[in-house]
Amino acid sequence: MTDVGTSGLQLREPLIFERSRPGREGIRMPAAEVPPATDDKAGPDIPAAWRRAALPRLPEVAEVDVVRHFVRLSQWNLCVDSVMYPLGSCTMKYNPRVNEWACRLPGFSRLHPQTPEKLAQGALELMWDLERRLCAICGFSRMTLQPSAGAQGELTGMLLVRAYHTDHGNPRQKVLIPDTAHGTNPASCSLAGYSTVPVASGPDGLVDPAAVDKVMDADVAAIMITTPNTLGLFESHIAQVAEIVHSRGGLVYGDGANLNALMGLARPGDFGIDVMQLNLHKTFSTPHGGGGPGSGPVGVATKLEPYLPVPMVEKNADGTFRLVDDRPKTIGRMRSFFGNFGVMVRAYTYLAAHGPEELRRVSEIAILNANYLLARLRTSFHVPQDRPCMHECVLTDERLKKETGVTTMDVAKGLLDRGFHPPTVYFPLVVHGALMIEPTETESPETLDEFVAALESVLAEAKSNPAALHHAPTRTRIGRADETRAARQPVLRYKFGK
Ligand SMILES: Cc1ncc(COP(=O)(O)O)c(C=O)c1O
Repeated sequence: MTDVGTSGLQLREPLIFERSRPGREGIRMPAAEVPPATDDKAGPDIPAAWRRAALPRLPEVAEVDVVRHFVRLSQWNLCVDSVMYPLGSCTMKYNPRVNEWACRLPGFSRLHPQTPEKLAQGALELMWDLERRLCAICGFSRMTLQPSAGAQGELTGMLLVRAYHTDHGNPRQKVLIPDTAHGTNPASCSLAGYSTVPVASGPDGLVDPAAVDKVMDADVAAIMITTPNTLGLFESHIAQVAEIVHSRGGLVYGDGANLNALMGLARPGDFGIDVMQLNLHKTFSTPHGGGGPGSGPVGVATKLEPYLPVPMVEKNADGTFRLVDDRPKTIGRMRSFFGNFGVMVRAYTYLAAHGPEELRRVSEIAILNANYLLARLRTSFHVPQDRPCMHECVLTDERLKKETGVTTMDVAKGLLDRGFHPPTVYFPLVVHGALMIEPTETESPETLDEFVAALESVLAEAKSNPAALHHAPTRTRIGRADETRAARQPVLRYKFGK
């Protein structure tokens, strides 16, 4: 066992509704400044049929009950603020508190999205400047900040691809997707109305230009490619792949979720990518996981600019900013207002705090940390692609399972008992029993060593007492959950009076 303990106090906690007592108050509301909407004459214009007859059933609790309830619940989970969280493909880096300070400045947090342009110049300038900075990092000409997540960015990007081909009189029907792709890639393509054609990776784990050459025909709208890919490897044939696709009239979509490995080192726009989403919540350090707000800006090469969603922020000759809706070829809106503005402020703060040189260091250290873990773990675990990786490395349970019967899932659960969030498991799908580890740059050498010690301790237990690991975790609030049942029969509603 490592020194990172899991023996702390975990308080039992009922639902907040079960803490409710009639008449108990958490807050006293000031008297309303407007008349209540009791009838159509006195109140605002809300049709009677739309008004609720009964009050919503809310828990009646004191402020202290609310604070303790949610703090206790938060302590049941491991999070980036408490432990290393090496969840591959998720870039769970530490979120600097200065980002939170900036996005809570009243000028940002209290700004109504319908504030007139001339009173929202600061917010528009931030969006403009953020767009410029992100374009400079990636080598694109413009970017929309509207999408709310990586996956929504992918959908936006594929709609841009569709708009481009339709505009050129040749709406194509297919998109090529390598077999290492994240599951959201084929889903986004099919939402955009495309059918997908899988492309098998070569034995080196990379997209093989010859395989692309074979399937790239006049009906293929684009290839959707992730680099570094989900094996943590840079797609070193990407320029050649882009050339093949471009030469037959297709476009290259880059999944930019793994940008944490590239900043200041390589620009996707320079190696042939025409359109790409970024995951601000990953690379640019804003809290995510558990469905929190995200942001998936989409950058484009010049030829795709006309189709970008509206509104776009533009700079006037006098240095002020305006919102522009009048773009005849736009794909329209992807969501209400401007996107998740709070995430943009956090990402902007991170960018401004680091500057170009430090951003390059971020990527270099993210790569160094992943390679350090790979070097420390390659003798204990089977490594499917045993060569230097980018920002994450992939191991498997192949050797362990043969020798002890202990699986990837057992290893992941054993790590929970040792105070670490597990890596991503069983992904990418092309690797059997995968453990995908992304340490990020924010972990120190000491923490990485503690993580290796925790994994070695799991291995030692696998050899001495494999049966115990099949039942891990035993020190967490909830033990081994039946994940299949939880996915197939979710119980999501609390029933009153149970
Ligand atoms: C490679 C890759 N693409 C796309 C996504 C989707 O991003 P989001 O979860 O923000 O929708 C992820 C998410 O982790 C990812 O790792």
